[in-house]
Amino acid sequence: MSASGDLPELSPAEAAHGERLAERIREEITRSGGWIGFARFMEMVLYEPGLGYYSAGACKLGAAGDFVTAPEVAPVFSRCLATQCAQVLEALGGGDVLELGAGTGSMAADMLAELERQQRLPARYLILEVSADLRGRQRATLERAVPHLLERVAWLDRLPESFEGVIVANEVLDALPVERFIIRGGAVNALGVTWHFGRFEASEVRAPVALRERVRGIEDELGAALPDHYTSEVRLGLEPWIASLAGALRRGVLLFVDYGLPRREYYAAERHTGTLLCHFRHRFHDDPLIRLGLQDITAWVDFTAVAAAGLSSGLELGGYTTQAHFLIGCDIAAYVADVADLDVVQRINLSRQVMLLTLPGEMGERFKVIALAKDLSTALRGFATRDLRHML
Ligand SMILES: C[S@@+](CC[C@H](N)C(=O)[O-])C[C@H]1O[C@@H](n2cnc3c(N)ncnc32)[C@H](O)[C@@H]1O
Repeated sequence: MSASGDLPELSPAEAAHGERLAERIREEITRSGGWIGFARFMEMVLYEPGLGYYSAGACKLGAAGDFVTAPEVAPVFSRCLATQCAQVLEALGGGDVLELGAGTGSMAADMLAELERQQRLPARYLILEVSADLRGRQRATLERAVPHLLERVAWLDRLPESFEGVIVANEVLDALPVERFIIRGGAVNALGVTWHFGRFEASEVRAPVALRERVRGIEDELGAALPDHYTSEVRLGLEPWIASLAGALRRGVLLFVDYGLPRREYYAAERHTGTLLCHFRHRFHDDPLIRLGLQDITAWVDFTAVAAAGLSSGLELGGYTTQAHFLIGCDIAAYVADVADLDVVQRINLSRQVMLLTLPGEMGERFKVIALAKDLSTALRGFATRDLRHML
């Protein structure tokens, strides 16, 4: 991990941007009596209108940005996801695809092209994106890559009231705000943010009831109290978010891909400093209180919490597995075998992509895929090779 002191310098414009957001957060802290919870802080630094990391016009994804995601570097990833979507659309006899948080639009473009190739195009490909800047990039990508399919694409401002098909999200769960907590003398403290002597500081208060109960619930499930000084995160906004998706889904599947773990591993003793990470120009570090609005902040996903949220919203668990097994189930091997039309460089690129996506030391095991289904009896092919739901 980079020390936050080793990060590249900010331009004057970036520094001014950070200062404008800092001012907004200071006002919020003052309004709230001198302290805000971490989730509110994270919400502001990522999504504050016009200033947050995802709401303002910084580059973010890709080689010139702060981090890369699977669809950016490996189109075969999106083709495999399309294969999973095609199976669901076939089982439903039609339907739409709704992508949440579509980044640069690469996944949408590659999925649409693959669904067309498989003659399984959805009636509509909908995108729900909180960032106006990214919406623009998504449209430009789709205009360039699949102009003839653009008429099927629509950007939504809110969830549809009734949806049938596949709702898919890659690396969106990890961007939902988390609360941080620390165990002190057996009590649960909330680790929030205050403004002190001219700088933002991490600051503890007795945890509010919802956070305290959640942490106690985790301890009950683990069968042991978390040790003193243990610091981690919980995503209290996850349940209402999944409930709203479940409420919109009439028939079909929610499919989430992200880095994360089952609860027992997420809150293991050795992970005592939590999973929070900040990304700035392809370096990562653990100080969320700097570079406000200019760096990404993420935390790993507790997939047990995702499954539980789905079940309590009336969904069924359609499967849980590693990204590697999911891609194998979606026949990544067939794409590798089908290289007759590729030149040598393209073949080398494809095998690099497959290694990146599937090797355990790369994305293969760190990333997981979970499906939550409603009114769908088909066994999903992405989980056919190995379903790890017993680990949740
Ligand atoms: C890490 S990026 C991933 C982008 C893209 N899915 C990819 O894999 O390249 C997170 C994305 O989630 C979006 N996002 C965050 N919260 C969201 C929400 N509540 N609903 C929809 N999109 C959201 C962000 O604007 C951004 O596009």
